[in-house]
Amino acid sequence: MNVLRFDSATQWTQAIASLWRDRLRSNPNLKICLPSGITPVDVYAEMSRSVRAGLVSFARSSIFALDEFGGLAVDDPGRTSRTLRRQLIDAVDLPLPAFHILDPDTADISPHCAAYEATIGDGFDLVLLGIGLNGHLGMNEPGSPIDSPTRRVELHDSTVQSSARYFAHQNLPRWGLTVGLKALLGAREVWLLAKGAAKAAIVRETLRGEIGVSNPASLLRRHPNAWLFLDAEAGGLLDAADH
Ligand code: PGA
Repeated sequence: MNVLRFDSATQWTQAIASLWRDRLRSNPNLKICLPSGITPVDVYAEMSRSVRAGLVSFARSSIFALDEFGGLAVDDPGRTSRTLRRQLIDAVDLPLPAFHILDPDTADISPHCAAYEATIGDGFDLVLLGIGLNGHLGMNEPGSPIDSPTRRVELHDSTVQSSARYFAHQNLPRWGLTVGLKALLGAREVWLLAKGAAKAAIVRETLRGEIGVSNPASLLRRHPNAWLFLDAEAGGLLDAADH
């Protein structure tokens, strides 16, 4: 995994957005998988500005939501699909049919997940990921098989607790649907984004600990084209040898 470290969160945001614009220009049909969460918020805002400024276009690309919480009201603003709509999709020129979401309220979840995989087709060109405090990728918690498909998953207690920051209520979701590790690890390019001091310990573990499913993020060290973007705080427990 290539590690890119930035002195400030602003530089971190600008660098990710700049590379993303580059990827869209090189391949306007870019097939992208995107997380919600706090980490990418500024990147999405910068990409929205870039589209408004005419610097780049999502018009021919497609975007797949990485995951979705189950057990929430259809209009809960904390749903990942709603968060992505607010933060990026509704602010750029992506045609709405090219935004693909997982529906946890569907009557039959297995065929729905299989259809999502079929729509992904030959794999993602680019996947952006945040990193969970326990190393989860999307809702692929520690212990998820490396060949896991898009599926229903139960969230670990620590993930349930830390999701409280996404919701204005205490009805925290305990399960969800997620793109599996197979499609994430099989993507042509993966960007793992980490920002802030809270992520420093798991970032160090991801780079220095054992590679294995007990820390899903560590599996990206075996990926041929994975990049870890760190601001100074997220990289705060690394030493020079980790560059
Ligand atoms: P965050 O979430 O971006 O809100 O920190 C990342 C994650 O837990 O996957």
